[in-house]
Amino acid sequence: MIRVLGIETSCDETAASVVALDGASAPEILSNIVLSQIEEHAAFGGVVPEIAARAHVEALDGIVEAALADSSVSLDEVDAIAATAGPGLVGGLIVGLMTAKAIAAAANKPLIAINHLEGHALTARLTDGLDFPYLLLLVSGGHTQIVAVRGVGDYQRWATTIDDALGEAFDKTAKMLGLPYPGGPNVEKAAASGDANRFAFPRPMKGSAQPDFSFSGLKTAVRQAATAIAPLSDQDVADICASFQAAVADALDDRVGRALARFRQEFPRQAKPALVVAGGVAANRTIKATLEALCSQAGFAFVAPPQKLCTDNAAMIAWAGIERLRAGIADENAADFVPRSRWPLDSVSAPLVGSGRRGAKA
Ligand code: KG4
Ligand code: ZN
Repeated sequence: MIRVLGIETSCDETAASVVALDGASAPEILSNIVLSQIEEHAAFGGVVPEIAARAHVEALDGIVEAALADSSVSLDEVDAIAATAGPGLVGGLIVGLMTAKAIAAAANKPLIAINHLEGHALTARLTDGLDFPYLLLLVSGGHTQIVAVRGVGDYQRWATTIDDALGEAFDKTAKMLGLPYPGGPNVEKAAASGDANRFAFPRPMKGSAQPDFSFSGLKTAVRQAATAIAPLSDQDVADICASFQAAVADALDDRVGRALARFRQEFPRQAKPALVVAGGVAANRTIKATLEALCSQAGFAFVAPPQKLCTDNAAMIAWAGIERLRAGIADENAADFVPRSRWPLDSVSAPLVGSGRRGAKA
C-alpha cells in the first residue's frame, strides 16, 4: 500500500489530496480538496500573481489539514509528500514547495518534486488505468500541447502553441466581447444561440507541415470583425462566439488529426491507441464532440477524465508521486529542489518562442 499526500499551488487553485494504491487494485482518491481563487482575480480579467501567492499562503495549511481529515489518513501513515515544483507562477510554487518541505521534514517523510505537466499527463492512468503509450492533448489557460506519453518520466512533446494558449484565446475573445472572466465557459454559453457560419474566421496552421498551434491570428480576426460591426447586439456576440468556436474546433481537428497519424506510424503495434484530453478547455462540448468524432474515425479511444481531474488539482500530483515511487524514479531527496517557473516536460524538444505561458499558467 502506497499513500501519498499531494500539494498543488502553481496557479490559482490551492489544492491538496491523498491518493492510495493498494497492490494490483485500482488506485483510490481518498480526498481531493480544491480551493479556486477565480473570484479574487475576476475583477482583473486574469490571474494576478501577487494576489495568487498571498491567497495560497492564507489557505494552504487549512487545505492540507482538510485533505488529511477527509481521507482519514494521518500524516504518520503517509508514505511521501508530492508537491508541484513547476512550471507555474513562482510565488505560488514557493508557497507549495516550502510548505511541503516543512511537512516532510517535520514528519520525517520523503518529499517528491513534481512537474505539474506530468500530473496532467498521468491522470488518465489514475482514472482509467490506461497503459503506455498514449497521446495527450493538454488545453488550458497556460498550455496547448500534444504530448506522446511513453512511460513515467518519458514524454515527448509533439506540438505546442507558437503564441497564445487556447484557454487564453477564449479568455481574450470573451474580454473583447464584454463577457466575464473566465472567458471559456461564457463564450461557450453565448455560442449556443449563435450562427457558426456568419463569420469566416481563419483556421490557424490548418494544413501546415509544422505540427504546432497558433491562435493569435484568430484573435485578431475576431477583434476586426467585432470592431467592424460595433456596437454589438447580443446576437452579434453569440454569432462571433459560435464562429470563433467553430474555427477553434476545426483547427484542433486538423492539428490533432495529424498527431494521431504520427502516433499510428510510431507505435504501429498499439491495437487500440488512445487520445487523452486535459485542461479547462477540454470542458467545451463542441471541442469534445469534434475530438470524439475524430478519434472514432481514426480508431482511437477518446479518454476524457472527469472535469474535476482535468483541471488543476492535487490528486494528479499525489498520483504522479505514486507513479514515480512505484517506478523507482522518485527524487526522494527533493529538500534542495528550487521551484522552476519554466520546466518543460520534455527536455529534448526545442523551446518555441512564446509557447503560450501566460505568466506560466499550466
Ligand atoms: O486547466 P484550467 O482550469 O486552468 C489552467 O489554465 O491551469 O483551464 C482554465 C482555462 C481558462 O482559460 C478557461 O477560459 C478555459 O480553461 N475554459 C474553457 C471552458 N471552461 C474553461 N474554454 C472553453 N470552453 C469551456 N467550456
Ligand atoms: Zn494545469
